[in-house]
Amino acid sequence: MGKMVKLTCVQLLMVACFQGTLITMSSAELPYDFYSSSCPKAEETIRNVVYNLTDANPSIAAALIRLHFHDCFAMGCDASILLDSSSANPQPEKSAIPLAGYDAVDKIKAAVEAVCPGTVSCADILAFAARDSVGKSAGFSYNVRSGRRDGNLSKASSVFTNMPSPFFGIDDLVASFTRKGLNIDDLVALSGAHSIGVAHCSGFTNRLYPEVDTTMDAAYAADLKKTCPEPVRGAPDPVVNNSGVAPTTLSNQFFKNAIARRVLFTSDAALLTSDDTRAKVEQNAADSLLWKVRFAASMVKMGNIEVLTGTNGQVRKSCRAVNT
Ligand code: HEM
Ligand SMILES: *[C@@H]1O[C@H](CO)[C@@H](O)[C@H](O)[C@H]1NC(C)=O
Ligand SMILES: *[C@@H]1O[C@H](CO)[C@@H](O)[C@H](O)[C@H]1NC(C)=O
Ligand SMILES: *[C@@H]1O[C@H](CO)[C@@H](O)[C@H](O)[C@H]1NC(C)=O
Repeated sequence: MGKMVKLTCVQLLMVACFQGTLITMSSAELPYDFYSSSCPKAEETIRNVVYNLTDANPSIAAALIRLHFHDCFAMGCDASILLDSSSANPQPEKSAIPLAGYDAVDKIKAAVEAVCPGTVSCADILAFAARDSVGKSAGFSYNVRSGRRDGNLSKASSVFTNMPSPFFGIDDLVASFTRKGLNIDDLVALSGAHSIGVAHCSGFTNRLYPEVDTTMDAAYAADLKKTCPEPVRGAPDPVVNNSGVAPTTLSNQFFKNAIARRVLFTSDAALLTSDDTRAKVEQNAADSLLWKVRFAASMVKMGNIEVLTGTNGQVRKSCRAVNT
């Protein structure tokens, strides 16, 4: 990574930094350097493993960013997404929606345990790993708050009630983010994550069949139909890239795609259907630095959702199971 840009309040727009200040006043205060004495090598260790893993397989960056998002939206950023099914809890969050990146988290956790056993929570590992995945895939970085603790509870039902659906229109999207303390700035900025990674056809064939959605570019739809035939029960569900342009580079390309009507989901296209979200899509498309500032601020804000601190929760030994 030749020239990594570190976004700070000094160099960046007051609006984003002010937003950051508001968040910390309204929710549990997480510091920026929780492990500075207990595990000074924590962040460096996590970064090294994430960089190594994503060098070998760039799709891991998308997976780690999405894991942090899902963790935070379903029962707070408490690593509940990482708990495996057990006899005590047969239907944890991860049984609800298939996600990638769990093996990568195991590798990161193993490296962190090797330098500081029992010290760094899995919830913080997800937040740092998402940040480092942004560093790798977008070339900019930001400071991440830490001190989250890992929860014991993980329920598939919480995924169904808290995760926004790709079939949502703008009102449901806004409502879903508002319930988590996030606003339309956050909704639009974070949607930029759909410049990387992949999606299964089943998430957007509603826009291809029986007729092509008129809000989708016809040539793009024709292209997608080549990979995604009309859905038939039991048939395979292939994947396509979220972005037709530079699909492993996290950038404001998503917003350019949205304006060109070349995004996959009903929920992506919905960002153009209200005046205020459309205005932000246009700003983010036109100004890459502005989007980066907003994205970083919104990731920090998302990482504060319903966190466990102090003596609540625990620091898990294995990210896949509560300590016994
Ligand atoms: C606004 C509401 C959102 C909806 C409805 C949504 C929905 C989806 C869906 C359906 C997929 C494809 C999954 C698959 O078929 O395997 C996806 C992929 C992805 N989403 Fe979102 N998402 C939203 C917001 C976010 C946010 C806030 C982030 C992160 C900041 C994010 C990051 C990603 C990434 C990185 C992928 C690609 C994952 C991979 O390739 O492993 N999404 N999203
Ligand atoms: C990352 O990869 C390099 C080169 O393969 C290796 O020397 C280093 O030990 C790895 N670091 C981690 C933390 O895995
Ligand atoms: C998806 O992106 C990868 C990486 O850039 C590329 O190799 C692949 O051909 C793309 N797939 C499609 C269907 O365009
Ligand atoms: C979480 O699990 C740990 C270890 O099993 C236990 O000590 C603790 O009381 C549990 N906390 C809650 C709130 O269930």
